[in-house]
Parts: sequence; C-alpha cells; structure tokens
Amino acid sequence: MSDRHPMTGNEMSGSEPGGLERHQYDVVVVGAGGAGLRAAIAAHDAGARTAIVCKSLLGKAHTVMAEGGIAAAMGNRWPEDNWEVHFRDTMRGGKMLNNWRMAQLHAQEAPERVMELEDWGALFDRTEDGLISQRDFGGHKYARLAHVGDRTGLEMIRTLQQRAVALGIDVFMECTVTELLKDGSGSIAGAFAYWRETGRFVVFEAPSVVLATGGIGKSFKVTSNSWEYTGDGHALALRAGASLINMEFVQFHPTGMVWPPSVKGLLVTESVRGDGGILKNSDGKRFMFDYIPEFFKAETADTIEEADRWYDDKKNNRRPPELLPRDEVARAINSEIKAGRGSPHGGIFLDIASRRTPDYIRKRLPSMYHQFKELADVDITQEPMEIGPTCHYVMGGIEVDPDTELAAVPGLYAVGECSGGMHGSNRLGGNSLSDLLVFGRRAGEAAAARADSMGQSRPTVRDDDVRAAQASALAPFDVEGDENPYAIQHDLQQSMNDLVGIIRTRGELEQSLQEIEKLKERAKRMTVEGHRQYNPGWHLAIDLRNMLLVSECIAKAALAREESRGGHTRDDFPQTDHEVWGTKNLVCNVDATGAGIDLSEKPLPVMPDELKKYFD
Ligand code: FUM
Repeated sequence: MSDRHPMTGNEMSGSEPGGLERHQYDVVVVGAGGAGLRAAIAAHDAGARTAIVCKSLLGKAHTVMAEGGIAAAMGNRWPEDNWEVHFRDTMRGGKMLNNWRMAQLHAQEAPERVMELEDWGALFDRTEDGLISQRDFGGHKYARLAHVGDRTGLEMIRTLQQRAVALGIDVFMECTVTELLKDGSGSIAGAFAYWRETGRFVVFEAPSVVLATGGIGKSFKVTSNSWEYTGDGHALALRAGASLINMEFVQFHPTGMVWPPSVKGLLVTESVRGDGGILKNSDGKRFMFDYIPEFFKAETADTIEEADRWYDDKKNNRRPPELLPRDEVARAINSEIKAGRGSPHGGIFLDIASRRTPDYIRKRLPSMYHQFKELADVDITQEPMEIGPTCHYVMGGIEVDPDTELAAVPGLYAVGECSGGMHGSNRLGGNSLSDLLVFGRRAGEAAAARADSMGQSRPTVRDDDVRAAQASALAPFDVEGDENPYAIQHDLQQSMNDLVGIIRTRGELEQSLQEIEKLKERAKRMTVEGHRQYNPGWHLAIDLRNMLLVSECIAKAALAREESRGGHTRDDFPQTDHEVWGTKNLVCNVDATGAGIDLSEKPLPVMPDELKKYFD
C-alpha cells in the first residue's frame, strides 16, 4: 500500500481497511466550476496550501451553461456604461431583494476580474477597435456581456482550470464530499468524502472550507443542469448549522430545448435574443408586447419599430420586450403555451433566421447552430427553434457575509450558485459568471487569511464524527428495504416540476410538502445493491438526502411567501407586495430533529442613502 496519493502525490496517513486516507490543507474548496477554481486560485496566491475536491471530472461544470457572456460594465460598446448602471440593473432585475452590498461589490469589481481572465489567456471576441466585445442580454441597459461566441462559460473554465493546474493546486476529481466536519467548538475542521471509483473514504483536514458546489436543478424534471447538481453544498451547509436564504426563488430560463425528448431542457442561450432573436407563438405573433409588466414599462419598447431600432441606438429607444429579465419572459412563454398557442412539441418559437444573416448567426452562435443541427435536425439560419422554460439556476443559497463570503459556521465559506443574496429574487443573465469571479476571489482570500491567522492551533477532526459520516454513507447498503433511489428521484423531479414550478398555488405547494414527506419516508426504505466500487445507485442514494432537504426548503419558503416576485410566482398572490414582503428574507435552518426545515424571517440589510439615489 502506497503512502502517497496516486493523483496528488500527497502523503496519506493510510488507506482503508488499514486506515483512512487523510490529507491536510489550509483551504479545501468543494466544487470545480468557475467559483471553485477562482476561489482556489485566490487561496493559493495568498499562500495557502489549497485543494479542490470535485464530484465530477475537472472542467465539467454548470459554468459552461452560462454561454452568452460575463456581465461587466467595461463600457467597450457603450462608454456611458459604468458600475452604477450595472448595480441598478442588477437590483431591479432581482426586484430589490438582492443583498445591496454584494450587488455593489459585484458591479464594481467585475470589469477587473474580466481583464484578469484575459491576462490569464481567455480569448474573447473583439470589437472593431480591438476591445473585448460586449453583447446585449435581458435586463442590462447596455451591451455588457464580454463573450466568446456562445461558449463563454467553457472558455472561462478552460482558462481557470489551466491556471489552477499550472499553479500546482491539488485536484481530487470524482471525489464527493458527504459531510462537513467540525471541532468541539463548532468551527470547521474539514470534510468527509468518498472516491466515486473505489468507494473508499477520505478525510480532508482544513480550518477553511469553501463550498462552490453549484445548484439544485436535478430536483426538477426539466432542467439545464446535469447529474451533479443535487444541492450538495446547500445541504452540507444546512447540516453544519448554516442558514439558507431566498430558497423560494428558482430561475426557469425561458429558452431550453423542447424536442427531441432526450434533450428536453438543454439550454438555448439568451444570446439568441441578445443578438436579435424574437419570440413568436403559433399564430406567428410576436407576443412579448402583451406581457410588459408595469415595473419595466418605462424602459420597454411597445412597438416593433421601436424595439428594432433599439439595437442601433440605445440612447433614445427602449429595450425590446424579448430582453426583459428572465422571470418575465419565462412566465409569458408559459402563458402562451397554456393558452394553446404553443409549438407542435409544447414550446414556443424562437426566430433568429428571419432577422440575421446565416454568416452572422454561425459566427455569433456557433454552439447553438451545431446543437440544433446535430440534436434536432434544425438549421437555425433557416428556420425557427422550438423552445420552452427550463430550470436553470437557484437564486437562494447559503447566507454569507457580503465581503468575505463567510457563512454562519466559523471557517465555512460559500460562493457562486450555492450562496444566496447576490441575485435577490431573480438573476440577470451573465451576472453569474461575474459573480463567480468576484466572490470566488474574495472567498479564497478570506479562507486563506483565516487559515493563516490560526497558526498551529487548528481545529481537529473528531473520530466519532468520522465514524458517523462513514456509517451514514454506508447506510443504504444495510437497509433491507423495497425502494430504489432512481424511483425516488424520478418522483421527486416530477413532483417539484408539477407543484413547485413557474406558477405556484397554496394548494399545490402544500401537496408538494406532503409528497416530500412521503419521499423522505420512502428514502428510509431505500436500499442499494452491489459493491462500493463505482456504484451510481449508491451515489444517488447519498445525493437524495441533499435533494430532499433542499427541495423542502424551496417548497416551504414558496408556501410562506404570499406574493409574486422574480423567480417566485403565486397564482393566488399575483401582486408584488413591497410593503410587507419587500423588506425581508425567508431563512431556512435545520430543525431540532435534524431531518426537517425550520423557516424564519429576517429583515433585509438596509441600503445606504448614497446608493438609494439610483432608484429615485
Ligand atoms: O443564456 C445563457 O447564455 C445563460 C447565461 C447565464 O445563465 O448567465
């Protein structure tokens, strides 16, 4: 038995069965999307011994599904753009429920983070003057998304990954964290994980852990998320004693593929609309003009002529309604489909073919061109696409300090989609990639500083906790039950889709909570077959604990919030209630049993007057 790890070369204090594999670091980052990679680079640069632990292969993260670009007020296309306008757009997009300080830091620091990415080798598209090109997106006043065709997330991951590897940061791939470990005083002491390939366990000892695990999309049937996104970071943080906020706000991206069934939910980038694409119903009507909400009336074009002029002259014209924030567009599409004006496969039409030349489309949207050609046999330069809403992103997440991303548990940091507050009730497209960079860096630096400040007196992992984590992970092998994890996951996804989807009602939300309770009972009888070596059924059984806990947060918060706002629409409470609900967040914590969720209310942080002026 080697005492060096085969991938990292680190010393190990022994492997099962003789002993548990253990590693010591200053900072352990869980997740290797844009947020995790940026956090790890920052921690490393600050002098911390840093590791990245990721459930999947390095480079395979939902970050790549942010295709259209990185929102940053660089002013390359419109010199009048600046951080104040970006801040204002972000707050308005989130319907003012965003943590104002996060939105401010994000808008101020995003341009620098994009330039840094370019310094590290990202190859952005260019303006005619040789600057980084910026494209239009929903809810952004100016063309603001730095992009690489429609593959921006991929380029970001490629760049950050290369840098992390070049810096020599240790990466533990296909290694899933199942529990956070704390010392006797309640501070983070490390994390417990298993290797997907061998099923062997591994303990990471570290005084700082950064969660960057992404979202929860796999709890819904139609989603742009792949198998990894089971709310792991959200649930790990909850079980460790941290809080989640804003969990009722789930983003249904307006445009996912609807046909063929095997790719239903796959993302169709907002860049199609940013670059001029329009939405039409089965009558051929450009229906978005019928769905302009009061909140955005002043800045949204109400005639086709004005909408079309906007691309040339943003100073005097109002935005086309196809570029309203995502929540508005998704609801409108949903209504058209429900009214029987949908496309043959249950979606709506997205047309860029009649608006732009084939050359332009292939140059600006190469992935979309190939995606539709290969997967649906549709040539988007000649014919419209069929699209429909798909669960894409959760605005809710771990409550953190806006400057350091520290959660309520000492030593625990959260960044990216698994953190909450930045996007309020609805995220603007492109703000996720900039969020990852801005707060990834901040979290990595803060985590490294904490480790450094501790010197040798570090929190220690308790053996009892390790034994408990081990027993919990192995429990599905011991149960003699009649349930299998795939059936439970299927029923959860169906129920969340049907009862906690784009449009919600009290009755359906209550029903969803009853369903979740039944699924939790069924999960107690869940058993897995076979061995610990590469056993996807076992892996899913472990993930399901997280999915059920986080789904309960979403449904409970959605039931409590009796208004409609952003990614939370109540058919029975259609108004946005600024007086009551515009002043507070809903907070989720694990209840006294450890198996359920307690909900409480918390006032929103108050925005200082010098920022309030942007909303007069
Ligand atoms: O539509 C898109 O390209 C997605 C971008 C995002 O989620 O930020």
